[in-house]
Amino acid sequence: MNNELICNNLTRNSSGELCFAGRELSPLALKYGTPLYLYDEDRIRERCRTYLKAVKTAFDGRGRVLYASKAASFRRLYEIMKEEGMGIDVVSCGEIYTAHLAGFPMEKAYFHSNNKTDEDIAYAMKYGVGYFVVDNAKELYAIERVAAEKEMRQRILLRITPGIDPHTYAAVATGKVDSKFGSAIETGQAEEITKLALGLSHIELCGFHCHVGSQVFDSDVYLRATDVMLTFVADIYRVTGFMAAELDIGGGYGVRYIASQPEIDIAANIAEVAEFMKKKAVELQIELPEVAFEPGRSIVADAGLTLYTVGTVKRIPGYKSYVSVDGGMTDNPRFALYGSPYTIVPVKETVPEDAEKVSVVGRCCESGDILQENVPMLKDIGRGDLLACLTTGAYHYSMASNYNRIPRPAVVMLAGGEDRLAIRRELPEDLVALEV
Ligand code: LLP
Repeated sequence: MNNELICNNLTRNSSGELCFAGRELSPLALKYGTPLYLYDEDRIRERCRTYLKAVKTAFDGRGRVLYASKAASFRRLYEIMKEEGMGIDVVSCGEIYTAHLAGFPMEKAYFHSNNKTDEDIAYAMKYGVGYFVVDNAKELYAIERVAAEKEMRQRILLRITPGIDPHTYAAVATGKVDSKFGSAIETGQAEEITKLALGLSHIELCGFHCHVGSQVFDSDVYLRATDVMLTFVADIYRVTGFMAAELDIGGGYGVRYIASQPEIDIAANIAEVAEFMKKKAVELQIELPEVAFEPGRSIVADAGLTLYTVGTVKRIPGYKSYVSVDGGMTDNPRFALYGSPYTIVPVKETVPEDAEKVSVVGRCCESGDILQENVPMLKDIGRGDLLACLTTGAYHYSMASNYNRIPRPAVVMLAGGEDRLAIRRELPEDLVALEV
């Protein structure tokens, strides 16, 4: 198996140079500088369409797909989501404002977060966010109060913790009972908050939400989660007479960072979930609520690539070799945070199989500033060569920082043979712009 061309938007041209979205990378590095985030816009659109079609087909024309915009949030992306007919999940005033600026229809936005402040709540209502996904009882009262002041009725879903372990890394497992998110079925808090919501006059309860985790490969996780959630929907119906119109089952489908990880067949997975849910609804004698999926990573991850320029190459005889690049944990904190694997390759040519293995590191003053260990590398790699880190479209720009006062890279969109700047490179001047 080819270990480097892990998505079909990657190729090598006749002189061996890596191409992304049909484009040679060195001219783009020359034009925009490095480090540089590139996005393959056509791939993003393809992923949206795959989800939308799969959901419509599997759920007989019903169902919704919401892009979890925490994965990557900037104006151009919300414009694409609008054009593709997606809904969105937002988690902060910053995401709400950016989506609003992009002209996104905010009635298709779902506002998450386990701790919405009164200011957040008022802000989201001011911008006409369609749904609040309510985490807990105190937050529910806060939303009721602000909605009453505004003399409106706010649509909500309740975030429920189904008690499912998604078998992924701990930082992204969110569906377990002891999670900081949501109200748990097991403790009775889920039923309690449902009854509270039904009694409030400025709240319109539309249904329930759950999200079990992220970077999930095991399809059984979704079957177990929907099993628990549909049973909850039926129990609530019996106890209160309230029948959920919507059931949002969150995001989480995993993506391929390295060749040994599988590529999930989204359509097949959604079809499996739909079949299971339909059967379960019959068994429980309830009507199946409209189902929503909330993918983030699997919409944008492999539509992204980061370009770096190599600087220092250091070989410590008998120990290890370091290849330093002009970015690092500031534009990609995911190895430092989660030990996430990545495929990092030289742009100029493929690395032979028996190549030396190096640590690819960043330029921050911190030993933990590592992008990846054990990366097969060309013998003659040196200052000025380009490296590409693949699958960086999700949780990179959105998690980037200015540690060491390093400016954030530019973001360039590639579409139909054209390249277009979406976000310009930060300048040192930008970094002091807020100082008074
Ligand atoms: N819905 C909710 C409520 C979520 O909390 C998340 C992700 C998603 C949907 C989208 O999940 P996805 O399809 O992207 O897996 N920073 C971590 C990921 C954190 C995920 C947080 N929630 C990382 O870089 O791996």
